[in-house]
Amino acid sequence: MNYQWYPGHMTKARRMMQEDIKLIDLVIELLDARVPYSSRNPDIDELGKNKARLVLLNKADLADESRNRIWAEHFREKGCYVAEVDSRSGTGMKQIQELIREACREKTERDRRRGILNRPVRAMVAGIPNVGKSTFINTFAGKACAKTGNKPGVTKGKQWIRLNKNVELLDTPGILWPKFEDQSVGLKLAVIGSIKDELLQTEELAMWILAFLREQYPGRLQERYGTREEGTDAKLLGEIADARGCLQKGGQPDYQKAAALVVDDLRSGKLGRITLELP
Ligand code: G4P
Repeated sequence: MNYQWYPGHMTKARRMMQEDIKLIDLVIELLDARVPYSSRNPDIDELGKNKARLVLLNKADLADESRNRIWAEHFREKGCYVAEVDSRSGTGMKQIQELIREACREKTERDRRRGILNRPVRAMVAGIPNVGKSTFINTFAGKACAKTGNKPGVTKGKQWIRLNKNVELLDTPGILWPKFEDQSVGLKLAVIGSIKDELLQTEELAMWILAFLREQYPGRLQERYGTREEGTDAKLLGEIADARGCLQKGGQPDYQKAAALVVDDLRSGKLGRITLELP
């Protein structure tokens, strides 16, 4: 498979995570709310064992609201703290401070019993590329907080962002790699534009999207393009090309152009809020 991710990348990413994770109390695991399964690397369970965990369903603004709730419940049942967020606009951020406090309560109490008072919780953000780690850190940390700089005893070069007197965030996120063993994972990540898949053509992605939407979100295509959702996916793509004026010189449908339009519309949310998988 040809997905930008090679063993060298993965080994390096893993080594960095293993180093950084020693320094922290809490892992803030970012998932893409449209594909919470496919954007998750379960290795985090092993890497982050004995650490408190907060799962964030990021890009919740692009995902189906009712399915956001189903996924949030799913992770809660697994014992995680969960929030739905839109890191770009900041929606859902307010509750996070409180969730961090709850997730780390046990640790804070353990500290207190040992006479350690007011030691801030240290957290790191982790997730696969493009899930929104940098956006989250920027929005969450905002402008109000200052970088604390290097600290004695902490790996040189690590920057901590002081969020308040209770929480410090590592300013470099942990990079996880997607779990490609399951073929549909790569496909879905390509559909949402999170990875460049050099093997799949735009037309293949578009055809997958058409079939998926007809099955799981009937009416969406009709709403957007005014086409009837009948016949084969190829025929439907032709009708979308007609409806949108994606035509070649001779007036024939330009399938390539129509496919690019469909893929773009899905990624940008113009086809509505969509979640590609359920627990
Ligand atoms: P990373 O650090 O995990 O690699 O991801 P990054 O923050 O760079 O975000 C990847 C893309 O996802 C960015 O879009 C970013 O704006 C977008 N994004 C992040 N969080 C959210 C969210 O909650 N909702 C939505 N709708 N988008 C989000 P981009 O197209 O690469 O950049 P730009 O168009 O924002 O400049």
